[in-house]
Amino acid sequence: MDILDELFQKMLESRIFKNREALRPDHVPETLPHREEQILKLAGILAPALQGARPSNVFMYGKPGTGKTAVAKYVLRRLNAKVGDKVAVAYVNCREADTNYRVLADLSSSTGVYVPFTGLSTAEVLRRFINGLEKEGKLMIAVLDEIDSLVKKSGDAVLYHLTRINEKLSNSKMALIGITNDLRLTEYLDPRVKSSLSEEEIVFPPYSYEELKDILEARAKEAFYPGVLNEGVIPLCAALAAREHGDARKALDLLRVAGEIAEREGATKVLEEHVKKAQREIERDHVVDVIRTLPVHSKLVVLSTYVLERKGVREITTGEIYAVYRKYCKEIGVEPLTQRRVSDLISELDMLGIVNAKVISRGRYGRTRRIRLSISEQSLKEGLGEDTILRGLSIA
Ligand SMILES: Nc1ncnc2c1ncn2[C@@H]1O[C@H](COP(=O)(O)OP(=O)(O)OP(=O)(O)O)[C@@H](O)[C@H]1O
Ligand SMILES: [Mg+2]
Repeated sequence: MDILDELFQKMLESRIFKNREALRPDHVPETLPHREEQILKLAGILAPALQGARPSNVFMYGKPGTGKTAVAKYVLRRLNAKVGDKVAVAYVNCREADTNYRVLADLSSSTGVYVPFTGLSTAEVLRRFINGLEKEGKLMIAVLDEIDSLVKKSGDAVLYHLTRINEKLSNSKMALIGITNDLRLTEYLDPRVKSSLSEEEIVFPPYSYEELKDILEARAKEAFYPGVLNEGVIPLCAALAAREHGDARKALDLLRVAGEIAEREGATKVLEEHVKKAQREIERDHVVDVIRTLPVHSKLVVLSTYVLERKGVREITTGEIYAVYRKYCKEIGVEPLTQRRVSDLISELDMLGIVNAKVISRGRYGRTRRIRLSISEQSLKEGLGEDTILRGLSIA
């Protein structure tokens, strides 16, 4: 049997996962423990839709992984099952659709009106959306998830139009559910937008350790065969996630990856050590993602630091990094930033945990920063490896 057959066979015979989908981040479970209050409140706000009336707009906020998206999808699914097609539900993720145009185009397409990917004015897309809605003659409930991404990138003009849209509708109605994990979002909003978006507000507090345990227990029942999880596994996942502002996503990721590691190792049970390995694996993936999405100048700074370290330079300073950085800019034909800007980039990389920049005193020569990489060589290579611009550089 070759190595792939063996791997697939192991999957087929998995004694670990009964249903691994149940731990996927976008899976909406049958029950959401400790969110009864938010579920009831949202359902209550949306209930007028059952009689064809327009519900109030709702603004939902709380830290990442506190169940906002899950609650919105859960309640809308239940509502949809009751009202059928009298109500149109649209879900827009504003991190993906982060321009006014894209948001309106997405909303339009859920009324069945096709809008090209680019090329129209925003006003024209808005007009088509309104016409589409009027033709359908329905109530639309639109979820605008991760609304902060949209506002930070493109401002709140589209929100302004959407919160006023009912004034322009005669045959149809619209209600908005805005969701954010950035609690300062309202500082960026026009006060009129803020007040009409938050006719109602629902707060999602972080989960406590005990609550995370309950959430994991319920999800684990769907996902794993009975008896597969060692006793300490769920408490450990819950404790690690509780330390990070009570994030259920983090807790579920740990549990899923721990299960996958146990499976890869051919173990029959998931143990605490698998959770610890999962934590390291997740952290490494996170670092790789951060590096991968850095702007090119920051990538060059990271690469320069790496090269100096490899050469055995003991006290790497901004000046030394800058010299190597300039050489690389020349090689790939980009205009170098000033040393001052590069110094700022180093501070940013320090905050992201990619380099460590320690201020040291050099006696009468004043103070300088000693810079070191704080990531592994493997993460660096994975993070920079796919960048085609960097590929031609001589890093000897
Ligand atoms: N009470 C709960 N019971 C079961 N699973 C939950 C619960 N709360 C959250 N989850 C799960 O945790 C993960 C994160 O939740 P969700 O996506 O709703 O977070 P969020 O508040 O929208 O976070 P973000 O602000 O980052 O978008 C999802 O997989 C979700 O199904
Ligand atoms: Mg969310």
